[in-house]
Amino acid sequence: RSAQAADGAAGAGSGTGGGPAVAAPEPFTVRMPTLPVLSPISTLGGQDLYYVTIKEVAREILPGVQTKVLTYDGHFPGPVLRARSGRKVVVRHRNTLTMPVAVHLHGGSVTPENDGSPMDTVAPGSARTYTYPNQQPHAPLWFHDHAHHMESEHVYRGLSGSYLLTDEVESALPLPAGQYEVPIALRDARFDEAGRLVYQMDDVFGRTTVLANGRPTPYFPVAARKYRFRLLNSSNMRFFQLRLSDGGQMIQIGTDGGLLERPFTTDTVGLSPAERADVVIDFSRYPVGTKIVLENTLGPGTPEQVGKVLRFDVVRTAADPSRVPDVLRTLPPLAPATVQRSIVLSMDEDGRQEPRGLMDGQVWDPARIDQTIAHGSSEIWTVTNANKVVPHNFHMHLVQFRVLERNGAPAGPAESGLKDTVRLFPGETVKLHATFDTYRGTYVYHCHLLDHSAMGMMANFRVR
Ligand code: C2O
Ligand code: CU
Repeated sequence: RSAQAADGAAGAGSGTGGGPAVAAPEPFTVRMPTLPVLSPISTLGGQDLYYVTIKEVAREILPGVQTKVLTYDGHFPGPVLRARSGRKVVVRHRNTLTMPVAVHLHGGSVTPENDGSPMDTVAPGSARTYTYPNQQPHAPLWFHDHAHHMESEHVYRGLSGSYLLTDEVESALPLPAGQYEVPIALRDARFDEAGRLVYQMDDVFGRTTVLANGRPTPYFPVAARKYRFRLLNSSNMRFFQLRLSDGGQMIQIGTDGGLLERPFTTDTVGLSPAERADVVIDFSRYPVGTKIVLENTLGPGTPEQVGKVLRFDVVRTAADPSRVPDVLRTLPPLAPATVQRSIVLSMDEDGRQEPRGLMDGQVWDPARIDQTIAHGSSEIWTVTNANKVVPHNFHMHLVQFRVLERNGAPAGPAESGLKDTVRLFPGETVKLHATFDTYRGTYVYHCHLLDHSAMGMMANFRVR
């Protein structure tokens, strides 16, 4: 049903079709790069200090073509910052663009001043220091631009990166590590005939080139052993539903907020924009020489265009001391909830005006507090996508929540861990449990289809 829903959603997009596009290259002609890891400039004083320059550069995305992109320190896609729970990270971002930016640590528990909130921007030519206390368990966080109305174009043009926070619980596990732990950022894009990135708001149909770590349908040589892939959907609007071309099993071990309590095997992994999945694939079942394609079964776009994501080429054997234990972590019990709220997301497309993104019938107003929450409390939020064809998802800053129910039924295994973003196909309802016991202040919640949040599908909550 989800595939149908998202295909239907494609039909409802208001993106225009026009403009020639460069044809996607033959698949599997370029190698998938691994993502660079940022190095701190200092590790003194019990904290890791990073300097990042936000700048426009040209990079090869399509083979043989230079494309202008917006980057953190020149990397497309963005780099990986590795952090550890209990150890502070300080990042000084210098904005050399002509537009304001805001750097948000997605999934991070940080004070409001360090949240990269939409109106709290870094002016062109200036710098801003963000402090991340990392007083939270391990999780595959990521960072991206959040300057209001510009976040969708900025992220589309390249401003996102991974922030892999680890802790003792995670690092004690015998999971695949080192070169066998591979972060992969998936997204889509649209190129014109000169190979430039084309950005149009709500361009659901146009973005039909799928990139894995910044390259179109690449191949990735692997050894015949287990790998841990840290998947991030950094697309503005595309939902992925991933499978292996031979129908082979994957072991999902984690999600947005880190490891699940227990791994489970599956032949498909779904990722809406901003969602993460931690997946182990055991290539030891394949003889050397085997080529397995990671496929995507969701539109928009024809299967030709968007059905192939990347190809794993099994090229050698290797020893494999790694293991996926039956128990990965223990999650804290759910505190009793004292408040219930209902939230409705919708795209207003009555045709009388520019489409507006609505949260409870209203466009985001930075000055309006939409929900006031007592510090220390736990709440249940029932969140509904009121649209009939447009998919959304739902993301809250500050907290990792639990998904109690989806459409009245218990959430499935992929949603059994800590989450910060949850899919909402048309007409769907999820019931979430969140505890607000960390920082006080005002934060946003929004649809993470960034073209939608840029159109106003966002609201404020205040913890006090
Ligand atoms: Cu990933 Cu409000 O953001
Ligand atoms: Cu949306």
